[in-house]
Amino acid sequence: MSEAENARQYGDVHKIAARARLHTRYTIADIGWFPWVAAQLPMFDGAHLLDVGCGPGWFWRSCGPLPADLNLTLTDRSAFMVADARERCSALALGSLSGETADAVNLPFADDCFDGVIAMHMLYHLDDPARAIAEMARVLKPGGFLAVTTNGIGNMREIYALTTVLGGLPMDPAAARFGFAEAENLMRQTFGAVTVRRHPSRMRVTGPEDIFLAMTSFPPCEDAGEADLLAFRHAINEAFARGGGAIETEQERGLFLSRKAV
Ligand SMILES: C[S@@+](CC[C@H](N)C(=O)[O-])C[C@H]1O[C@@H](n2cnc3c(N)ncnc32)[C@H](O)[C@@H]1O
Repeated sequence: MSEAENARQYGDVHKIAARARLHTRYTIADIGWFPWVAAQLPMFDGAHLLDVGCGPGWFWRSCGPLPADLNLTLTDRSAFMVADARERCSALALGSLSGETADAVNLPFADDCFDGVIAMHMLYHLDDPARAIAEMARVLKPGGFLAVTTNGIGNMREIYALTTVLGGLPMDPAAARFGFAEAENLMRQTFGAVTVRRHPSRMRVTGPEDIFLAMTSFPPCEDAGEADLLAFRHAINEAFARGGGAIETEQERGLFLSRKAV
């Protein structure tokens, strides 16, 4: 994604919030996505952690109890997101908190300085995710962990299928760029081993407008004309009628965890 397109998508919180709303309102899971991810990260008291592509920092505020005295560094290509995440995380009991605007392929940090790096749902935006993973490995201490998350190709398939009337793919476009196979292969190539886990969850969406707003928050659907948008509303309403007032769909979200060799 170009810098200009990243600014259009992530220069404020509205578009990512429209997509997040679908998950927060309609996900059915024993444990929510962020606490589920956090429970599997080998974090420890006093650890130095780097969040690459932190977005609004929702993870840190929603993941549940954190180890004591974490030293958290937030980075994102969007200056707005870094500022927003910093403000949100300032309420947490951390050892230290800092934030910097940075591109994942060129991290402004020394070699071997973090105990853990997380890159959640961001590598699918990159032209060269392998370069970013190598860069994250570089800044990890020996023994440190890298946690990457992304979507699988079957994620919310019934909902993405509706976007074809707007020129969208009939599948999650993020997963089509950087899905489970790409994440697993790149992590294995870089670190030699990877642990793969899938969050068990599905969705039952009962608000048609939430689907409309989420699916028209990114290209090409966000650039559709009035006639196509009307056709999209029609397609959503038909799907809801077929489903008796709801759309049910599987979620596919995965965590890929590796450690740098000691
Ligand atoms: C879908 S959001 C994910 C936010 C957060 N990690 C989460 O999971 O809630 C993707 C974020 O990656 C950032 N991003 C995209 N390309 C990037 C790059 N090359 N380097 C750093 N951040 C990038 C965007 O600005 C955006 O904030």
